Amino acid sequence: MKNTSVDLPIKRHKSLLCSRLFGAILVSAAFFISSAIIVVDHKKRFPELQNSDAMQADPTNICENQCSLDGSEALPKGIVVKTSDLEMRPLWGPRKKRKNPKSPMSLLAMAVGKKQKANVNEMIKKFPSDDFVIMLFHYDGNVDEWKDLEWSSRAIHLSAISQTKWWFAKRFLHPDVVSEYAYIFLWDEDLGVQNFDARRYVSIIRNEGLHISQPALDPDKSEVHHEMTTREKGSTLHRRIERMSRSKKKCYRNSTDPPCTGWVEMMAPVFSKEAWRCVWYMIQNDLIHAWGLDMQLGYCAQGNRTQYIGIVDSEYVVHYGLPTLGGSPQNKTNTESSIEESSSLQDKVSLESNHTDIRAEVRKQSLNELEQFKRRWRKAVQEDGCWVDPYKQQ
Ligand SMILES: *[C@@H]1O[C@H](CO)[C@@H](O)[C@H](O)[C@H]1NC(C)=O
Ligand SMILES: *[C@@H]1O[C@H](CO)[C@@H](O)[C@H](O)[C@H]1NC(C)=O
Ligand SMILES: *[C@@H]1O[C@H](CO)[C@@H](O)[C@H](O)[C@H]1NC(C)=O
Ligand SMILES: *[C@@H]1O[C@H](CO)[C@@H](O)[C@H](O)[C@H]1NC(C)=O
Repeated sequence: MKNTSVDLPIKRHKSLLCSRLFGAILVSAAFFISSAIIVVDHKKRFPELQNSDAMQADPTNICENQCSLDGSEALPKGIVVKTSDLEMRPLWGPRKKRKNPKSPMSLLAMAVGKKQKANVNEMIKKFPSDDFVIMLFHYDGNVDEWKDLEWSSRAIHLSAISQTKWWFAKRFLHPDVVSEYAYIFLWDEDLGVQNFDARRYVSIIRNEGLHISQPALDPDKSEVHHEMTTREKGSTLHRRIERMSRSKKKCYRNSTDPPCTGWVEMMAPVFSKEAWRCVWYMIQNDLIHAWGLDMQLGYCAQGNRTQYIGIVDSEYVVHYGLPTLGGSPQNKTNTESSIEESSSLQDKVSLESNHTDIRAEVRKQSLNELEQFKRRWRKAVQEDGCWVDPYKQQ
């Protein structure tokens, strides 16, 4: 991965968790062996190997159990399986072999309703089964309606009436469950994918080292809420915009804040597994519309957000901004703060009756949640004396 040198001092120095402590042991052991760089690098690329490495590196720690207070202490270590995956396995016989078993799989997770079945079908066809696990969150409870589609039996279907994408993601995409997947696509169902190729997309973000990204939006056909996400023709990707944004904030070459740089919108985010581990923690259980999350994503970028967050122009999508979903006011005013604008299409609630009324309510709720989220963030910052804001303006 490029640019690993622009690491920020985001990582706190507290070691509250066992794995952190193991990590610290690993690092200090590494210094003793004077091969620090190699080992740190190794650890970065294979964070899941931390624990076993640590144990090998420092045998005196093998019996010190005070760290693993996660309920597994009663078991012999070798039997403990800490992470899981979403792979479906046959009842008997060998597993189907992947063509390219070396390249890790990624995950596409979408909240869907039957009204968008045709479009969702087109979308999923763009994610080849050899490289992508598909997980559908049915917010309208209609699971059987999807059975006739060719890929349906290899997708994982979850159903919970009128729940949002973020509600599902918090509950079912725990980082320990999706740790095998290189990238997590957490997408809305109303995206046009004629000009999108999932494999090429992954290869671009991998080569560019983007931990958080999204495909650009085709400005001619999309409901665009923010210029940052507008496709730049002829470019592969962009990490910032310099023109005036639609909200009142202006963007310059020297801008370092979202939404001028280090920012993606929430209708089609793609997270590396490292970034997702961080983002998952930031999602609040009760703030199901997740408004405000987009502006804080930079803290999960695994380094300088101006570097590790980007918009891919060469693989782009159309954002239809369909009105079938609650809380998606069709009409955008451009005077609101960027957070509100950018977040207004996130909600994936199935609302059949009394549209305007319910949508207004959902919007009100979303705005309330935004305020709550901001309050919680401020409080958390105040209360955590060890946390340093890497992006704070001096
Ligand atoms: C950024 O650039 C703009 C326009 O070029 C300038 O007005 C502004 O002072 C610059 N800001 C910083 C922090 O350098
Ligand atoms: C959006 O609002 C503008 C002005 O308020 C109006 O002219 C336009 O028709 C509206 N569009 C939709 C799709 O409601
Ligand atoms: C629709 O909204 C109106 C206005 O708030 C309300 O009076 C009415 O009872 C609602 N109808 C249904 C079916 O919920
Ligand atoms: C991130 O990178 C930008 C551009 O290189 C730089 O201006 C900024 O100071 C960096 N931010 C931090 C926190 O290092």
